[in-house]
Amino acid sequence: MSAVAAFYAGSGGLVAALEEALDTAGVDRSALRAVDLGPVDEFHIRGRVATLEIAEALAVGAGSRVLDLGSGLGGPARTVAEVTGCTVVGIDLTPEFCEAATVLSSWTDLSDRTDFRTGDATRTGLHDAAFDAAMTVHVAMNIADKPGLYAEAFRTLRPGGRFVVYDVLQGEGGDVHYPVPWANDPTTSFLATPEETRVLLADAGFELVAESDSSDASLAWFREVRERIKNEGPPPVSFAAFLGESFPQMAANQVANLAERRIRTVTFICRKPA
Ligand SMILES: C[S@@+](CC[C@H](N)C(=O)[O-])C[C@H]1O[C@@H](n2cnc3c(N)ncnc32)[C@H](O)[C@@H]1O
Repeated sequence: MSAVAAFYAGSGGLVAALEEALDTAGVDRSALRAVDLGPVDEFHIRGRVATLEIAEALAVGAGSRVLDLGSGLGGPARTVAEVTGCTVVGIDLTPEFCEAATVLSSWTDLSDRTDFRTGDATRTGLHDAAFDAAMTVHVAMNIADKPGLYAEAFRTLRPGGRFVVYDVLQGEGGDVHYPVPWANDPTTSFLATPEETRVLLADAGFELVAESDSSDASLAWFREVRERIKNEGPPPVSFAAFLGESFPQMAANQVANLAERRIRTVTFICRKPA
């Protein structure tokens, strides 16, 4: 198993841990909606709100096919499928996440429109031009071969299709404080700057439609989440289920990383020329 997948897989037993946490909280799993799982399966800064922005930017509808590179526990895929009516194929390096994503889709009645497969986002083995749109959410920071990642998105997308990248980028404030929710140390963290990302996307062949920096909103989001946990306690399931004991330190580091401009959160809406 790669060092990146080993970091995310944690100590295993993820599905059982999620079941137990929901049952303990008295949540009826047969009546779950995608939105109920947001605190655990929207594994990126600004959670479901950010995914709803991406869903709109993808410009897809019922019948469209969307590729999610680095789909994690499948929150973004389920949210996009739910609000647009499209179907989503998710590719992720961590087998435990693909297994959990598949189970979570069955609990939320979205199995017929989401399909999670273990694989490397830089070489998916999927057909050329097979998708109407593609997205990648908080994944490139784990991938050294960014030209490979963006080339794969370009190859699998139909001409005219949108590719939405929402990622954590290197800020001008200096080196990141570790651990963070994607890495314990710099050996599995490969942050590009906004300028580098712009060049990488253009080199892959994409046209840039729009770019937006959400770092201030990201900092506010982390502070709100911390405040809510302090006042109301943690949600029934959260990232802590798989990030383990380091999670509080990771969350505190993220607040510092954003406040000190060591990281930025940026969305790039791109298009493959028609
Ligand atoms: C922070 S999580 C984000 C998951 C999901 N996109 C979301 O926003 O909820 C990063 C994910 O990237 C996956 N990943 C990292 N490197 C990858 C690669 N080379 N190919 C596919 N997935 C990868 C990890 O397994 C993990 O699930």
